[in-house]
Parts: sequence; C-alpha cells; structure tokens
Amino acid sequence: MAFPIQRPRRLRQTAALRSLVRETRLSPSDLILPLFFHAGLDEPRPIGTMPGVMQEPVKAAAEIARVAKRCGLGGVILFGLPKTKDPMGKSGLDPNGPVPVAVRAMKDAAPELVVMTDVCVDEYTDHGHCGVLRTRADGTREVDNDATIAILAEMAVVHAKAGADVVAPSDMMDGRVAAIREALDSSSFENTPILSYAVKYASAFYGPFREAADCAPTFGDRAGYQMDPGNAREALREIALDEAEGADMLIVKPALSYLDVIRRVREASTLPLFAYNVSGEYSMLHAAAKAGMIDLDRAMMEVLVSIKRAGADGILTYHAHRAAELLRA
Ligand code: PBG
Repeated sequence: MAFPIQRPRRLRQTAALRSLVRETRLSPSDLILPLFFHAGLDEPRPIGTMPGVMQEPVKAAAEIARVAKRCGLGGVILFGLPKTKDPMGKSGLDPNGPVPVAVRAMKDAAPELVVMTDVCVDEYTDHGHCGVLRTRADGTREVDNDATIAILAEMAVVHAKAGADVVAPSDMMDGRVAAIREALDSSSFENTPILSYAVKYASAFYGPFREAADCAPTFGDRAGYQMDPGNAREALREIALDEAEGADMLIVKPALSYLDVIRRVREASTLPLFAYNVSGEYSMLHAAAKAGMIDLDRAMMEVLVSIKRAGADGILTYHAHRAAELLRA
C-alpha cells in the first residue's frame, strides 16, 4: 500500500481552509440569555455561585433589552424573584410582579428583541417546589399535578398579557402544555408560541440556579416530576406528548450530560429544538478557569458548538454575551 492518498490534514493547514470546511457554526442569534429580575432590588446583586451573573432590579430591564438587541442575541428568557412567597405561588400571578413589569419595559425599549418567560411556580412558592402540594394518606406531601397546571395556565396568560413573545413552561407537570394552550387561546393569545421544557432531567447541575432564583426546595427533591438521568427513550415519549398538546418548540435540559438525548430528539421531531446550558455547566467552567485549569473562552466556545453539533438549533446560556462578543470579533 502506497503512502495514503487521503490526507485530512490538507484541509486543516490554514484558518481560512478550516473555516471553509467547518460543519457547525455558532452565531449570536443562536444564543438566548437567561435573566433574573428581583422585585426587591435597587441595584444589581451578584450571584456568588455564578461569576458575572446578577440578580437585576426590574428598573434595569429596558437597558438590558437594548444591550441584548444590540448584541444580536436570539432572545432572552426571564425568571422572577418576587417580594413575597406562599405555598400556592400566588405572587407569580401578579401582573405587577417582576416578570410582567420587566417584560413590558423590555418590549417598549427593544420591540424586536424576542422576550420569553419561564413559566413555573418554584420561584414563587415558599417551599420551592415546581407545583402546589397536597398531603397523601400517609401524611407525606407531593406535588399536585392537576392543581398546578391550572396555576401555570393562568401564569402564562399573565405573561402573554404583559407582552411576552414566547412562554416557556419548565415545571414538568403532565398535561401542562395543553392546559396553557387552551388558556392562551381562550384569552385571544392563540398566536403566542409555547417553548416547552419537554425533556428536563432531575439534575445536580441546577445547583447554582437555586441560589440565583432562590428556589431550592425546603424538603425532598424534584425526582418525582423531573426525569431520571438514565432515561433517553422516555425523552421521545415526552416530546411526542408535548407535540400532540401543541408545543411549538422544545427544550432539552441540561445540555452537556445529555448530548445524546439532544441528537435523538433532533431526529425524532421537526420542531425547533433548544438546549439549556444550565447554571452548573456555566459555573464549572468558571471555577476550572479560575483554578488555572482551562482557558475559559476556548472551553466556552467548544461547549457551545458541541451542543449545536449535537442537534440543537439554539442554546439558552449564561455565556451568551461573552460568546456573542467573541463571535463578532
Ligand atoms: C425551574 C427551573 C430550574 C432551572 C430553570 N428553571 C431549576 C430546577 O428545576 O431546579 C435551572 C436552570 C439552571 O440551572 O441554569 N423553574
């Protein structure tokens, strides 16, 4: 056998050749920035476990929207920290709560920016669960699926009325997409799309978020409603249900430990697919970079391109601004 005729290195010789044959490219418009608006703040408050990420005062919303638009981001997704919490998450239905007020300000300041809202009660309940509770016969408590979806449907309508372009339920209750679709339609929001967190695992990688959104459960865990990390077939079942219920777009979450799931969902559905590069994935890179172990920018871009290569059309990520800056450079 002669020396190899095929030499893949030929196409790796220069930056220009590498760029010419690159299969997966990121653009700022692939990136969706999660934001935390806190009703009780006057100034941004740093989140200790997430370097560079802040809880923002609601009055900062307009300027944040203008910057996100200028940077060419695909959109933003809003989480709210209310002044009061109770067992039912009532403050999540307040049209003057942090999310509706921020949505209105953002849409006024940057009408073309895609503003999405996270629809879930965990930021508003005093027990931190993603639903309201009921007591079983044996005295233990569980999240009440059907009572919760009625509240989620109402919350989605509150967000749509404030001007949200997209509502994104993240609770993992069964049947919530259908309930939200019906509530939106009967309030004349038949054109408001639902981005369903269809495939959300019970993950340790949400750790820093629970400080960011102040929503760590006060008892138990979320394994009774979020998916088991060992399951991939079940992801296909979840997306089939959500599609049938009227979901317009899908999320797989977290991203990095679930790249295979992103690929399988991509092959099983024609809906736009997003992946959530979650708080723990973000903070790990920062911690490793701070310890001198990795180059933050390079690791970040490699992570983001891997998620897109796996099949995601876009990525929810706290790296959005830095990544967009590098992509523009
Ligand atoms: C729940 C919700 C969570 C995240 C987004 N929405 C936390 C959870 O389910 O415990 C996590 C996002 C992240 O870790 O970045 N409303």
